[in-house]
Amino acid sequence: MKPYLTKGIKEIIDQFPEVEKILNEYDIGCGPCNVGLCQLKDIVEIHRLPVDQEQELMARITKAIDPEAEVKIPEAKEAPPPEPKAFNYSPPMRKLVDEHVLIKRWIALIPEVVKDLEVESQAGRQLVLDGVDMIRSYADKFHHAKEEDILFKYFDENSDILKVMHEDHKQARGHVQAILEALEIKDKNAIAEHLMAYAGLLTEHIRKEDEILYPWMDSSLSTRQVGELFSKFNEADLQMGFSPKKYEAFIDSLEKKLNA
Ligand SMILES: [Fe+2]
Ligand SMILES: [Fe+2]
Repeated sequence: MKPYLTKGIKEIIDQFPEVEKILNEYDIGCGPCNVGLCQLKDIVEIHRLPVDQEQELMARITKAIDPEAEVKIPEAKEAPPPEPKAFNYSPPMRKLVDEHVLIKRWIALIPEVVKDLEVESQAGRQLVLDGVDMIRSYADKFHHAKEEDILFKYFDENSDILKVMHEDHKQARGHVQAILEALEIKDKNAIAEHLMAYAGLLTEHIRKEDEILYPWMDSSLSTRQVGELFSKFNEADLQMGFSPKKYEAFIDSLEKKLNA
């Protein structure tokens, strides 16, 4: 089993498809991950399962990889009723989770925006530009910059999980660039396609951060580091040079308009 612990999960799944099914049963979905480089040992560590569940998971994976292996799979206990996931975030992590809320409200509006997409009028084009401004200024400059320039620096940036996060941010920027290029030539289909791809990408990205990355980071940071992070985040916000209120107002008015 040991050599598999340091193997990329996608490689293991390609060789032993049963492993993906087992991981899914423990709510560890590797499907939405775009990179798939994460090593098996890191995946198990980051998801922080209760000890008995982790033992059971590893035993089942070992059996799937090597059916001859002498492994005793612990008897499954009667499943407790599923509890809603509740996370006790530290103040800086809570700040990032709260910022996700506005981004999620924008993502929820994207299918409606795409349905009524109109690029022949100035007003129609302006809506796309306002949406792009929301992504570039609020999601990227205000939020992703705090992650990339401050938070991620506390961890090994060559770790697989951070490579996945950076890659998601990069792909999101690629969609924004493609939306602007499509707007130049009034290519409605391409704008719609990249807006929807952005929405799908960010939905999964935010879920990974809220449910996996931030809780794991919180468990790894010292109290001193948490305090330091919080003041660095506040400092960064002050230096941004714009008020996030502008984007809250944009989302408020768009929700009223589209849900009217
Ligand atoms: Fe992120
Ligand atoms: Fe984020």
